[in-house]
Amino acid sequence: MSGVRASGDLRVGLVGLGRFGRLHAAVLATLPGVELAAICDPDPAALAEVGDRFGVAARHRDLTDLLAGERIDAIFLVTPEPLHAGQALQVVERGIPLFLEKPLATTPAEGERVLAAAEAAGVLVQLGFLLRFEPQHALLRAEIAAGRFGPLVSMRVKRNCSRTWFPTYGDRVHPVYETSIHDIDLLLWFARQPCTSVFAIARNYSGLRYPDGCWALLQFGDGPVAMVETSWFVPNGAPANVLTPTWHGTIDSELEIVGVERSARLDLLEGSLAIWEPDYTARPDTAMWPEIAGTVGGALREEDRHFLDCVRAGVPSPIASARDALAGLRIAEAIVESAATGREVRLD
Ligand SMILES: NC(=O)c1ccc[n+]([C@@H]2O[C@H](COP(=O)([O-])OP(=O)(O)OC[C@H]3O[C@@H](n4cnc5c(N)ncnc54)[C@H](O)[C@@H]3O)[C@@H](O)[C@H]2O)c1
Repeated sequence: MSGVRASGDLRVGLVGLGRFGRLHAAVLATLPGVELAAICDPDPAALAEVGDRFGVAARHRDLTDLLAGERIDAIFLVTPEPLHAGQALQVVERGIPLFLEKPLATTPAEGERVLAAAEAAGVLVQLGFLLRFEPQHALLRAEIAAGRFGPLVSMRVKRNCSRTWFPTYGDRVHPVYETSIHDIDLLLWFARQPCTSVFAIARNYSGLRYPDGCWALLQFGDGPVAMVETSWFVPNGAPANVLTPTWHGTIDSELEIVGVERSARLDLLEGSLAIWEPDYTARPDTAMWPEIAGTVGGALREEDRHFLDCVRAGVPSPIASARDALAGLRIAEAIVESAATGREVRLD
């Protein structure tokens, strides 16, 4: 892997300008040494809005056209999950460093293909595991890795979301690949040993293609036991911590770690600033992607900056690699299989 530029701005392309792509755009347009040089989305309104706001002239409705028509040093892919593997292959096969939003793919087999292509081409791929860049999670991981918790006994992770968001995802991707994939990644990061078995239950109240609730019990060898929860029923009356112009609602996430020596808890919703608006209570997120006076900061800015630093240096990301993401995909697939069959799934 070699660095792409010794000096000058990195020319970056952003593909997918929906809820999360717009947040990445706001970061990329203001990072020093970076030019948001091209954007891509099949939706002309999204192209016009993001292009006009950030002064991006090169606008494409298709990734193939962007790759053929632009000189680009790195691509950010923030498209719907089922498109990730195919689009990632297009980018890495051209030798272009890739920041890929989670998940790496929606099957481990596809994830393996992306990883193999990236390794064959010697191209950097960093996954959008934002929580690894959030200081509270990173501090907790450092404490665990330093041995201060002793052997881990159990880990409990929860990521419940606004019910109004589910129609966007419910026919698109199993929620394990959308929300729990973050928590599976945290569990692997904390446990530092492979998951060996999974038992899961899913429920479908909405009648869309994928379940709107999924709960799993994981074993990590003779080490920790983990409980993973996700559901999409948070009512509109809950405190809102996602407050962007195009995306409003709640991510209710918690984690609890029990070690032989110490325990830890983290509740991202309750522990933050509260603003009582006329008709709801805002709990503005200050950790993940806070927008303060027009600039998006927090973990999102940190992960984008880290990726582009790695691109400049021509080194793999030591924090959020595609190989770790593949291990998470194998667990996600086992959860989906266990929920469908009602049986425990053992992992090699
Ligand atoms: N890390 C996080 O915390 C986090 C949070 C939210 C979303 N995400 C991830 O971001 C990605 C996008 O999610 P979202 O919520 O913004 O979805 P979204 O539906 O709001 O946006 C997706 C965008 O991609 C565009 N698109 C569709 N097909 C395309 C194509 N072929 N080429 C280019 N663009 C295309 C759509 O027009 C839309 O603008 C997903 O992978 C999701 O998992 C990550």
